[in-house]
Amino acid sequence: MWSMTTLRNTEQRYGTVAIALHWLMALLLIALIVLGLYMSRLPDVGFDKNKILLVLYHKEYGMLALGLAVVRLAWRVGNVLPALVEELPDWQQVAARFVHLCFYGFMFALPISGWLMSSAAGIPVYVFGVRLPDLIAHNEYRFQQLIEIHKWLGYALIGFIVLHAGAALRHHFLSRDNTLKKMLPGTHT
Ligand code: HEM
Ligand code: HEM
Repeated sequence: MWSMTTLRNTEQRYGTVAIALHWLMALLLIALIVLGLYMSRLPDVGFDKNKILLVLYHKEYGMLALGLAVVRLAWRVGNVLPALVEELPDWQQVAARFVHLCFYGFMFALPISGWLMSSAAGIPVYVFGVRLPDLIAHNEYRFQQLIEIHKWLGYALIGFIVLHAGAALRHHFLSRDNTLKKMLPGTHT
């Protein structure tokens, strides 16, 4: 059985809930990026059925990511934040926390820009069959602007993931410290 001590974060490591949310969302965001890049490059000619279906999935799972981001932010605010490994130079501490903070920004900005984009295009967003309200009025110019914003947020997220995962792997395999173990289930240190 999970006890509260393993569910919640401690000063030393992330708890089960934070770990589950971290890896679930890492998978989901990477899948959404791959799907987004792929589907947006499919030809529009005749607007083939396949493309419409993929965009629908992207929107639905993108909105799921928004829901998970709300839960995750609430959990983060209500938990202690495990310390970074000791003896990290100041600039790396600032960089690590800055990247984590930016990820929270991305987790909200990407789905919300996607939702705004759909509203501007005059296409409703559905989550599990429920129609969500349009955030802004139909406007072709805004639609084009929001595609650009959503796209560049996506590209920036890719860059941050490469940095973040690279740093985590470097800590694990080169510095051989606890950075990655803190975020893995079952490895109590
Ligand atoms: C965390 C969630 C999301 C991520 C990481 C994400 C990522 C991406 C990426 C990387 C692209 C490709 C951009 C390009 O190269 O042109 C894309 C396209 C797109 N996304 Fe998202 N997205 C997310 C959520 C959403 C949501 C919630 C919606 C709508 C409700 C949405 C609607 C779209 C649409 C319509 C496109 C195609 C735009 C075009 O025609 O070029 N996305 N997304
Ligand atoms: C794909 C490979 C990834 C690896 C190997 C990885 C690894 C890690 C590790 C080791 C930590 C703990 C750092 C510490 O506190 O010392 C961490 C924290 C964190 N990671 Fe990742 N991560 C990955 C992907 C992602 C993605 C895609 C996101 C995007 C949301 C993300 C967001 C975060 C956040 C926000 C934290 C801070 C703790 C929290 O608030 O949950 N990670 N990651």
